[in-house]
Amino acid sequence: MKMDVLLGLQWGDEGKGKIVDVLSPEYNIIARFQGGPNAGHSLEFGEFKHVLHSIPSGIFRDNTINVIGNGVVLDPVIFMNEISKIKEIKPDALKRLYLSRKIHLILPTHKILDGASEAAKGKTKIGSTLKGIGPTYMDKTGRNGLRIGDILEGNFIERYNFLKNKHLDILKQYDFQFDITDQEKEWFEGIEIMKQFKIIDGAYYINNALNENKKVLAEGAQGTLLDIEFGSYPFVTSSNTVSAGANIGLGVPPGKTGDVIGIFKSYCTRVGSGPFPTELFDKDGEFLAEKGHEFGATTGRARRCGWLDMPALKYSVMINGVTKLIMTKADVLSGLKKFKVATAYKINNKITTEVPFEFNDDLEPVYKEFDGWDIEIDNMDSFDNLPKELKTYIQFIEEETGVPIWIVSVGPDRKETIFRN
Ligand code: GDP
Ligand code: IMO
Ligand code: MG
Repeated sequence: MKMDVLLGLQWGDEGKGKIVDVLSPEYNIIARFQGGPNAGHSLEFGEFKHVLHSIPSGIFRDNTINVIGNGVVLDPVIFMNEISKIKEIKPDALKRLYLSRKIHLILPTHKILDGASEAAKGKTKIGSTLKGIGPTYMDKTGRNGLRIGDILEGNFIERYNFLKNKHLDILKQYDFQFDITDQEKEWFEGIEIMKQFKIIDGAYYINNALNENKKVLAEGAQGTLLDIEFGSYPFVTSSNTVSAGANIGLGVPPGKTGDVIGIFKSYCTRVGSGPFPTELFDKDGEFLAEKGHEFGATTGRARRCGWLDMPALKYSVMINGVTKLIMTKADVLSGLKKFKVATAYKINNKITTEVPFEFNDDLEPVYKEFDGWDIEIDNMDSFDNLPKELKTYIQFIEEETGVPIWIVSVGPDRKETIFRN
């Protein structure tokens, strides 16, 4: 059996959580492969709404094992808080949550370093979620990090103090006030909670499961345009959000990747700083923000909104090798008389359909305009009944990307999901 990968094709918040929850009954294992609690994945069914940060989005399904893979970074405090919420809702779910031994730990001082670094950058700040993601991955590649497997060792506290002191030395270079006394206490409480979970050798676990014909879905966090290598650097996160990240982040070889399921919104959003060629500052932008409830699931920050960016979408499809597309938030476009899609960029008076190295605000989008539709579509359950204008838009995207749109999502609820035959 091969492992399918589901990931975001834009700047995150494409609706990965919702779709993973919808698809989970088809899989035995859901595995997060990168990122950390910078993610906020929203799930909704009926009256129930929940946001997950570190835990895979299959957690509310009865028969799914949820694995946090080695490529993820975990904050024991956030993890503990997530666990206690889930315990109230569905206590038995936690028996099906496994942690990889090689997951790196976010220390309280990683979060302080994140804050200090952002403050020092001033206007050029990344707009980080301040969850300590960058500094933790820096310690991972710098070969200083602490991993979950280490918490079971006798010298763990000593190693913790060594790394903390290293951070305190670095922090002396910044003019940044902090006090980690309370956070440190909670952090060690979180470590004790982690010890109660099944800690596995993730790569063996998942490869064995595939050999036993189990179905595995790798759940991405963030999006392709936030990838450390291929995103709008330096306004990116610190992990590989692309499909190759699933191979590294779970220890599954590339030849065992099955479908690569790419999710995109019918328009674009971005939270944090960085270039956004199709960003809107007019009433259409306000319309998308309001109708799409575009506020960050992790930080509550307002998301910037703009039209779909086709060169960027095609780039993401290429980098990830997407085999199936999912369009979310199609319902948000209902009510617009006209809407647009960038089909190319103008840069130094030249037209290009590629994402250039200088991916910055000097790029001028070249737009194609589409007719909108009036009716609300959130209660529709068949592709055939969708407005013809939306079908035209879908057909255009399929022709441009060369990949079929498999699912159209028309609302935040599990049920508001249209599968195409
Ligand atoms: P993720 O990070 O990719 O999991 O996405 P988020 O959960 O951060 O943001 C997506 C937001 O859109 C959440 O509030 C979802 O409940 C909501 N959502 C997901 N799909 C749809 C959809 O098709 N239509 C609408 N209106 N909302 C959606
Ligand atoms: P999900 O999984 C949207 C953005 C931050 C910032 C940049 C770097 O919910 O799609 P970091 O904290 O990673 O150092 O921040 O990346 N960012 C996200 N934006 N969705 C996310 O996750 C994000 N995770 C990080 O806003 O611009
Ligand atoms: Mg999110």
